[in-house]
Amino acid sequence: MAGHYQSANSSDPDFVPGRKRVTPWVKFGVPLAIVAIIGAVLGGVLGTQIHKSSTTVHGSSTSKSLSPQASSSVVAAASSSLLSIKEFDRLPSSTDSYGLPVYPTATNPALYTTPQFVQENAPAAWPQETFRPSAPSVTNVRPDRPRLIAPAPKWAALPSLIPLDAYLKGWNDTIFSNAAGVLNVSPKAFYLDGGSGALDIAREVKERIKNLAYAYRMSNNSVYAERVWVELQNAAGNGTTAFGTSGDNWNTAHFLDTAEFTAAFAIGYDWLYDYWSPTRRTQIMWSILNLGLKFGVQAYTDTSVSFGWWRTVNGNWNCVCNSGLAMGALAVLNDDPTGTASQILNLVVDNAKGNCAQGPSSDGTWSETANYWYFGTTGHAEMASSLITATGSAYGLLDVNPNFNLTGLYHMYVTGMTSLFNYGDHGPNKFSTTANSMMFYGSQYNAPAYTLFQRDRIDAGEPHGLFWYDPTASGAWWDNLSLDHYFENSTDQWASMRTSWTDNTGLYVAIKAGTNSGHQTHNDLDGGDFVLDAMGQRWAGELGSGDYLSTGYFVGDAADSQRWLYYRKRTEGQNTIVVNQQNQVLTAFPTVNFSSSGTTQGSSTVEIIPSDSTAFFAADLTATYGGTSVRRGLRLINGRKQVLLQDDISNSATSVQWRMHTNASVVINTAGTTATLTLASKVVQVQLLNAPSGINFTTAQPVRYPSDPPLPPNQVDQPNPGVTVLVINVPAGTNSIQVLFNPQWSGMSANSFVTPKSVPVDSWSLTSHN
Ligand SMILES: *[C@@H]1O[C@H](CO)[C@@H](O)[C@H](O)[C@H]1NC(C)=O
Ligand SMILES: *[C@@H]1O[C@H](CO)[C@@H](O)[C@H](O)[C@H]1NC(C)=O
Ligand SMILES: *[C@@H]1O[C@H](CO)[C@@H](O)[C@H](O)[C@H]1NC(C)=O
Ligand SMILES: *[C@@H]1O[C@H](CO)[C@@H](O)[C@H](O)[C@H]1NC(C)=O
Ligand SMILES: *[C@@H]1O[C@H](CO)[C@@H](O)[C@H](O)[C@H]1NC(C)=O
Ligand SMILES: *[C@@H]1O[C@H](CO)[C@@H](O)[C@H](O)[C@H]1NC(C)=O
Ligand SMILES: *[C@@H]1O[C@H](CO)[C@@H](O)[C@H](O)[C@H]1NC(C)=O
Ligand SMILES: *[C@@H]1O[C@H](CO)[C@@H](O)[C@H](O)[C@H]1NC(C)=O
Ligand SMILES: *[C@@H]1O[C@H](CO)[C@@H](O)[C@H](O)[C@H]1NC(C)=O
Repeated sequence: MAGHYQSANSSDPDFVPGRKRVTPWVKFGVPLAIVAIIGAVLGGVLGTQIHKSSTTVHGSSTSKSLSPQASSSVVAAASSSLLSIKEFDRLPSSTDSYGLPVYPTATNPALYTTPQFVQENAPAAWPQETFRPSAPSVTNVRPDRPRLIAPAPKWAALPSLIPLDAYLKGWNDTIFSNAAGVLNVSPKAFYLDGGSGALDIAREVKERIKNLAYAYRMSNNSVYAERVWVELQNAAGNGTTAFGTSGDNWNTAHFLDTAEFTAAFAIGYDWLYDYWSPTRRTQIMWSILNLGLKFGVQAYTDTSVSFGWWRTVNGNWNCVCNSGLAMGALAVLNDDPTGTASQILNLVVDNAKGNCAQGPSSDGTWSETANYWYFGTTGHAEMASSLITATGSAYGLLDVNPNFNLTGLYHMYVTGMTSLFNYGDHGPNKFSTTANSMMFYGSQYNAPAYTLFQRDRIDAGEPHGLFWYDPTASGAWWDNLSLDHYFENSTDQWASMRTSWTDNTGLYVAIKAGTNSGHQTHNDLDGGDFVLDAMGQRWAGELGSGDYLSTGYFVGDAADSQRWLYYRKRTEGQNTIVVNQQNQVLTAFPTVNFSSSGTTQGSSTVEIIPSDSTAFFAADLTATYGGTSVRRGLRLINGRKQVLLQDDISNSATSVQWRMHTNASVVINTAGTTATLTLASKVVQVQLLNAPSGINFTTAQPVRYPSDPPLPPNQVDQPNPGVTVLVINVPAGTNSIQVLFNPQWSGMSANSFVTPKSVPVDSWSLTSHN
């Protein structure tokens, strides 16, 4: 049976957002931006429909057959001023409650083509870069300002490009409205939140300075530049209230803060260089030198200081710290009378190549977590981009790791249909951190799909994204993109499977095995962990970070680390098997089989799934459980409408527990064989198949076992309000626990669900369940 199936949209009036925490990004990250993006995106797609209906698209004349839905949108939009916008590629029609783009349903393949950068057809394109030294050097900077990320020729081109490209137009509006928002609020006050130091402050200051400096340059309205000055004065400790510790105002103890403040000041100095009086310029420079770069040199050269430990870390710390120092140094180079800037530049590049650039595993997976990918790649992209614009080269930062380009693919596959496959720690608030590195990498790696993917995202509207965006990108990023991908590196060993790239009300499952160490202490003990999205809801989800201030939370990832005492990090806090109420083994290397029918999405946003389309992931987690034989398999069945999760457990000497965390309300039938999960008026039936009597569903609270070793003194677990643990208690012995997830898709009749046959996990193949 093949067919397109849909669930009701998550914009249903009965949608209950109460379960959804407002993410910090939304809460603190200038809600104005969201309104502006939605407006721009809505206008954009309507404009496209009109335009494309009467034009030649990539050489083929198209007679448009608009879907009824699209046609009525066009009528409704007849008065939109955005209809005058010229050519641009497909835009989402709106943003869903999770902030993901909603694409119109359209079947005309001529509208969606292979992702490409097409200079000839593009209405808008950046001017060619003219600063191209034949022998680039980190200390040989371009003669003109700005140097960092956005050189003068791009600024000069913007006023004429913006009207030609709906994305640029939307982002310009967003940035202006965010800059205007800052005019009404006080300079960012300093505080330490402990776990993340002053990092939120630093990133918010950086975000403000970027938006304000942009607004000044694009309007000549000095009110924006003067507001940058107020913010800089304040964060330099020269405002009307104290800011941090005098002399160490940027909190070197948590060096990320120092680096992000340095980056913020670098942008403020460089982008507004021509605005500042020589006196102010000098003042900003001394702050960069005395509060940032001076400590950067110490981090590298003074073994008596403890704040330079990130120099050997293959992760976001190394990217953010080196990037901030590089940006600060590039900004003041040649103005700096101390030689500090050139000293820094000769230190950071090689270090970042050896560490930051090694953040992704060989398969592109960011080896920390999916959320830390944002911090790492933002730092990496800002550093590489600043070096390129300021000096003409990235000195190998982009290709020293030959697989760095795959990290864009990682980000796409780890993005689910509600949120990320957000295993491990989630990190601090993002503010100036976005996924816009995707657009930089799109250009640098000639991967237009990365650019096209990100330009549709809610966090794209900020200056770096705008300047990294290549407006010659066209086509559909999902065209010919495989629905499944297995990331095979032993560090994470995870798979992503879905029904569609463009319909977020379909099915998404992601599952991992991997090693329980080697993630910069941001992981959980989570071999076998999975998430499941269906019908616009997350049914099996993650608990996220513990309290970063908890005793021993970051003490390391050794087996006896206190980190592993906290529920959210323990194996029992994951969606996996727990043997004898114990944590998983830290040193195990599980093995995984993965196979996929290779189904790709076509160019259309309407995905027709063949009935034999499937994918499966089968992990031997025996080593992870210290010898108790556990084989966990997860597969899509019935044309990807149902999910089977099977655990074959042999010869277990002790009790085993199957656990899954959900925000849904859970009702279990009297036989204990079916759990009905309800979330926002959607339902998933979870069936326990072929279970011997006495094995059944039950529920538990998302809290530690009474038998767990105690938490460190005076420590508590984070509460997990609204979360229920669906549990199956499995007695010692040999058992196959087969759990079938049946999302109640709208329009799918009860007899269209299938009951798969029972096949041992290690005999699974693509056809084993036909
Ligand atoms: C950018 O946005 C601002 C505010 O919406 C607007 O006034 C300005 O005209 C825009 N710039 C261009 C070049 O369209
Ligand atoms: C801002 O001033 C510059 C230089 O005087 C000028 O080229 C530019 O057109 C002005 N921009 C706006 C939006 O007025
Ligand atoms: C802040 O004050 C210090 C100490 O007087 C000075 O060195 C620095 O240049 C000032 N920075 C700014 C941005 O005003
Ligand atoms: C995983 O990726 C790391 C980092 O690139 C690499 O050193 C290692 O060899 C890879 N391991 C496997 C098993 O591919
Ligand atoms: C990544 O780079 C490698 C080697 O340069 C290349 O073979 C591969 O196609 C690239 N992949 C992507 C997704 O750009
Ligand atoms: C689709 O992608 C595959 C690789 O993933 C490639 O071999 C094939 O040529 C592509 N097909 C089209 C039509 O672009
Ligand atoms: C519950 O919902 C929140 C907010 O969307 C989400 O962050 C969390 O991961 C969900 N928890 C589970 C167990 O699905
Ligand atoms: C569920 O299993 C438990 C043992 O784990 C058993 O005591 C109980 O009777 C079972 N309930 C049902 C309804 O079968
Ligand atoms: C993987 O496949 C091989 C060969 O088919 C099989 O021997 C092995 O048991 C499988 N492993 C798992 C975890 O299913």
